[in-house]
Amino acid sequence: MQVHLEAIKHPIFKLIGEAADELGVDAYVIGGYVRDYFLKRNTPKDIDIVAIGSGIELAKKVASKLKGKPEISVFKNFGTAMIKHKDLELEFVGARKESYHRDSRKPVVEDGSLEDDQNRRDFTINAMALSLNASNFGELLDPFNGLGDLDEQIIRTPLEPGITYSDDPLRMMRAIRFATQLHFNIELKSLQAITENQERIKIVSKERIVDELNKILMSPKPSIGFSLLHKTGLLPLILPELTALQGIEEIEGQRHKDNFWHTLEVVDNISETTENLWLRWAALLHDIGKAPTKKFHKKIGWTFHAHEFVGSKMVYKLFKRLRMPLNEKMKFVQKMVMMSSRPIILSEDHVTDSAVRRLVFDAGDNVEDLMTLCEADITTKNPKKQKKYKNNFKIVRQKIVEVEERDHVRNFQPPVSGEEIMETFNLKPSKEIGIIKDAIKEAILEGEIPNEYEAALQFMLEKGKALNLKVKSE
Ligand code: CTP
Repeated sequence: MQVHLEAIKHPIFKLIGEAADELGVDAYVIGGYVRDYFLKRNTPKDIDIVAIGSGIELAKKVASKLKGKPEISVFKNFGTAMIKHKDLELEFVGARKESYHRDSRKPVVEDGSLEDDQNRRDFTINAMALSLNASNFGELLDPFNGLGDLDEQIIRTPLEPGITYSDDPLRMMRAIRFATQLHFNIELKSLQAITENQERIKIVSKERIVDELNKILMSPKPSIGFSLLHKTGLLPLILPELTALQGIEEIEGQRHKDNFWHTLEVVDNISETTENLWLRWAALLHDIGKAPTKKFHKKIGWTFHAHEFVGSKMVYKLFKRLRMPLNEKMKFVQKMVMMSSRPIILSEDHVTDSAVRRLVFDAGDNVEDLMTLCEADITTKNPKKQKKYKNNFKIVRQKIVEVEERDHVRNFQPPVSGEEIMETFNLKPSKEIGIIKDAIKEAILEGEIPNEYEAALQFMLEKGKALNLKVKSE
């Protein structure tokens, strides 16, 4: 018998054990908390407690023993109760046996033993329990050798994997997510069962799927997850836009790169430099417009004309389909996709001030994020090219700072207003005003005049003259 007192040294565990003893039930801490303790990860603040009896009664008893008598949220239908205590969220449930219908993730539930409860869990590493009763406080109950699997870094199911995944197909995503977060392997039998059950992902809500995708994306090396999704056939059911990027075509000896594997490299690259989930989404989607725009021209070879524009439109459809937020986060991803080639074009060429000014003007406050995306997009294996692009990006970054200090074109405000143009030339609202305003903006971006009032005013007068407008007499 192994005892792990260190894992449950927080006084809350002793208190739960006392409450359980008073009720005459057995109680255990189980699931993610135990797993993360053994992994030496930060132990989670949400703690799952299982009672061999009523979880709700145990929660009530625990609450009555806690200072401040915290509120309990009871979910009678699920037989669970939750207590928020300081920074902890304690989730109580009675041990249960579950059976599933084929068309639903909602099980039929009966009371069960600890073993029944452990059997119904997703992975061996998530089925470990530590006893909280005084008689065996800290004893580890690990019937499927989850500890050994943690050691071997393997994701395995307690039951036949076909049963575990078919019962609750969300677990297919969870397996891949844990493999990505923890850098673990999924046992072969499990991978096969996921492949066989791939179609069952259709009964899982989009929100849950996106939760898992977000966790995969926020892992240190997201490509692990996306290649597993690809390998098991889940990807085309969730993100067909990505699957469509896979493959290399060759016509008349001309090949294009495999944009799927390239995309995964970009996502891994960007994950080394940003924790911004939406920028990681932008990296994942930056090339999706390439599949529908791909063409072969005899003279110039493969083209993906306007793929950035097409891709940014696809972002909206994809977010809508997956019930993701259609708010400023989506607009940010769209903008990044839309602009994703801009700095690259700069970096291939001689970097001019006016090109950088235009970039800052168009990207606004997102210019640094855009640069981060574009640097991640360098996946060439040619060391000479790699060096050249990186160096040019350095120059672009420097120029952004210089141009910013001098010209302030980020969040550009026209130095001469429409009202002033109307007033000067005695104009009613008309297209001439737009023409003059545009010409001033263009002159500033091209570097013909500085972004200053006096210069813009002078320019306005000249432009007005060229348009045959008369200055209103004083
Ligand atoms: N569980 C399960 N099947 C699911 C979801 C959860 O068997 N589809 C079980 C697992 O034993 C899991 C526990 O419920 O450990 C708690 O689930 P949850 O809080 O969602 O996950 P954690 O394992 O705590 O991990 P994370 O917080 O990273 O999601």
